[in-house]
This record gives sequence, C-alpha cells and structure tokens, in this order.
Amino acid sequence: MIGIYFSGTGNTQYCLEKFLSLYDANAEMIRLEDPHSIDRISCHEDIIFAYPVYYSNLPKLVHDFICSNSGAWQGKRIFIIATMGLFSGDGTGVSARLFKKYGAKIWGGLHLIMPDCICDVKALKRSPINNEKIIKKSEERISLAVYNLKNGKPQKNGLGSFSHFAGLFGQRLWFINKTREYSNKIQIDTKACCICGECVNVCPMKNLSLSQGKITTAGKCTYCYRCANQCPQKAITILGKQVVCQYSIYNFR
Ligand SMILES: Cc1cc2nc3c(=O)[nH]c(=O)nc-3n(C[C@H](O)[C@H](O)[C@H](O)COP(=O)(O)O)c2cc1C
Ligand code: SF4
Ligand code: SF4
Repeated sequence: MIGIYFSGTGNTQYCLEKFLSLYDANAEMIRLEDPHSIDRISCHEDIIFAYPVYYSNLPKLVHDFICSNSGAWQGKRIFIIATMGLFSGDGTGVSARLFKKYGAKIWGGLHLIMPDCICDVKALKRSPINNEKIIKKSEERISLAVYNLKNGKPQKNGLGSFSHFAGLFGQRLWFINKTREYSNKIQIDTKACCICGECVNVCPMKNLSLSQGKITTAGKCTYCYRCANQCPQKAITILGKQVVCQYSIYNFR
C-alpha cells in the first residue's frame, strides 16, 4: 500500500499520517509533487489518495496530476481522503469520478473537517480551542474509518449521488472558475517583505522567484496558502487583503 497526498498547510498530511499509522505502519507515504511519485505508485495495488478540497473541487494541481498520469490508475484500488474546513458535498467524489474513468476501483472515501487554512479571510477563522476540538474529532473519525476498512466495510463519504448533487449545487458550480485555471491573484506587500526567500522555497508550483531584489510571481498559483501561512512578515495575501491569523497544524500542536 502507498499513501500519496497533496497538502498546502499540513492538515491533509497529518490526517494521512494518522490513517496509515493505524492501518499499516509500514505503508509508504509520498508527496504528490515528489518527482518519483508516479514510479512509486506503479509498485502498489492499493492507494490511499489524500488532498484538501477547494470550492468543493480538486485543487488544480491535484486535478492535473490525476489527468496527466491517467495511465497510472488502471486496475488500482483507491481509498480517497478529502480534508476541508466545513463542507464539500462530494469532496472525495470529484476525484473518484476521474479515477473510475481511468480504470481504478474506488475502495472508499473519508471526509475530514479540519482547521481552515485561508489566513487572510477573518470570517473563516476559529479559535485555537475550537481548532483543537475539530482536530480531535477528525482523529476519532480516522480511527473509526480504519476500523471499518479493516473489517471490510469502508466508509463511502462523498461518493453517492446525493453528495454529488450537494457539492455541485452547494458550491462547485458557482466557483468553477476558481479552480479551472492557475491563479495570479497573489499579492506581496513589498514594504513588509524582507526578501527572506521562504515563500520561494515552500511553493509547490515554483510560482514564486526572487529576482532583482524582489519576489515575482509566474501566474501558476494553485491556492494552497502555504506561502501566506509561512511568510514571517505576513506580507502575502491571496483571497483577502490582510493576514488575520497564520495556521499550520505542525506549528499549532
Ligand atoms: C482556496 C481554498 C478553497 C477552499 N475551499 C473549501 C471548501 O469549499 N470547503 C471547505 O470545507 N473547505 C475549503 N477550504 C479549506 C481547506 O480545504 C482545509 O483547510 C484543508 O484542510 C486544508 O488542507 P491542507 O492543510 O492539507 O492544505 C479551502 C481552502 C482554500 C485554500
Ligand atoms: S516569505 Fe514573506 S518576507 Fe519572505 S520573501 Fe516571501 S514575501 Fe518576503
Ligand atoms: S504561490 Fe503560495 S499559495 Fe500559490 S501555489 Fe505557491 S505556495 Fe501555494
């Protein structure tokens, strides 16, 4: 078995680590952006595939990864984990439909609510105590999902037709443009920026670079919010105008 994941701010990585530690402590785990990820997938029959949901849809990076490696999924058995801040409808279903199209068998699906990672929109922020509570709840849901999977009764969160309807009309349809293309929305406050280069190092898209003493962007942002949450100067905004509260599960605990 192999666990493969994309994670902007750590939630998805954290959930997959928990899941694999309970299901099969020897399972391999690899980032989707790893240059060897597809080679490693080809060595395994069973895959746990995990990602965050954006606008009840796949991050563009995840969508493109699945489609551009369409031959890799034939005959695989895939259990999908989708993390989200509140609601996705069919967060697992969006990738399940693609995987099925490319010949995979969908083993199950698990939706996990985790702290929201959008650090520049105040309305989405919860207190640290509430974040602790929702992480605890998701940990319990992971334990249950592993128990069910081991007993041959995998969860099917987000895979049914009602979930499809809820995801489509509850959100995806109205925000479809947000995930169709990569974005150039990222803003860098040049007065605040100390040119430390941290954002350049962490971006999974290589969207940011340091050139002539300033950070430039290439219009290839997948909205993962990693840079905005890690900038020491809080100089990066994407959907909002000001960083309210930075978040990463690995600093938080
Ligand atoms: C651009 C964007 C869009 C998002 N859309 C949704 C959404 O539609 N529903 C939801 O519940 N959470 C949404 N979220 C929250 C993330 O899915 C959630 O915080 C996730 O656990 C982040 O995982 P990560 O830390 O592995 O990147 C969104 C986050 C971002 C950055
Ligand atoms: S992480 Fe922030 S301070 Fe550092 S270079 Fe990027 S924008 Fe500037
Ligand atoms: S620019 Fe920032 S938000 Fe966009 S993909 Fe890179 S790290 Fe993620």
